[in-house]
Amino acid sequence: MQRRKIILDCDPGQDDAVAMLLALASPELDVLGVSTVAGNVPLPLTKQNALVVRELAGPADVPILAGAERPLRRALVTAEEVHGASGLDGVDLPPPHRTVDPRPAAAFIVEQVMAHPPGTVTLVPVGPLTNVAEAMRQEPRLARRLRGIVLMGGAIGVGNTTPAAEFNIFVDPEAAAIVFASGADLTMLPLDATHQAITTDERIAAIRALGTRVGRVVASWLAFYRRHDMDRYGMPGGPLHDPCAVAYVLWPELFSGRFCHVAIETEGKLTLGRTVVDWWPNKAKPSGAEPNCMVIDRIDADAFFRRLTERLGRL
Ligand code: RIB
Ligand code: CA
Repeated sequence: MQRRKIILDCDPGQDDAVAMLLALASPELDVLGVSTVAGNVPLPLTKQNALVVRELAGPADVPILAGAERPLRRALVTAEEVHGASGLDGVDLPPPHRTVDPRPAAAFIVEQVMAHPPGTVTLVPVGPLTNVAEAMRQEPRLARRLRGIVLMGGAIGVGNTTPAAEFNIFVDPEAAAIVFASGADLTMLPLDATHQAITTDERIAAIRALGTRVGRVVASWLAFYRRHDMDRYGMPGGPLHDPCAVAYVLWPELFSGRFCHVAIETEGKLTLGRTVVDWWPNKAKPSGAEPNCMVIDRIDADAFFRRLTERLGRL
């Protein structure tokens, strides 16, 4: 089996942590590294949390890299109200035994992509896009050398951080604008898709019923992480955002969407960080902007959770 080479860029965050466990549990994937970025919580915590998750996953020798402490041009906005002060609230885990790899995340991304043949490495960013934009700044050939970028972020419809913007894009709109204009092969898992992947009581119970340490820890994370979204959206659970991006790499048949033009608002007073998705191109008044991104709006949530649970059971 030709293993798919990926670099997961994340801001753990409970959903990032589950995305990381899914990637490490999947033999189809060759996880070259897990890079971390400031987002849900500041970088010292996101990198520490990624080290904790790697040890929870077992004997994975995957390098954990530390990246940007703040967005390209703006002050950092975090989301402790969702993830807790540690970023991984819900269960207490022992501190990690090992530290991060000394290479800066952006330099690692450039090094790995340029060292592998063109079209073999996929970036899977599930936090603010600061590290990815910085890697593109350092190596202008990066975007076209990648096999692709499969990211969790953005929204076709309403945002979750402002009415207009989703968190990952809102935190660093300038970085997102660079990535969406880069010419890379882009796939976007927006809120419209991830809000179909709801951590209901039954789905959390199935994960806890694995009877393993990983099953217990993940079930506890999800029980904590969903409370904010249940209060806000009145849904029977919380959207499990980031594992959708890894699941798309593994099982694209569970998803569907549309190839659209997507641009990022970097100046709007009310719309900063909006992913402007041309979902219904106007043939009478064509915008002239060519489609640049596969935008996913449908997911087979039952199959997604069944397969996710089975993979978590392997750790
Ligand atoms: O808007 C959801 C995204 O923001 C997820 O990646 C979550 O982890 C937070 O980073
Ligand atoms: Ca995230």
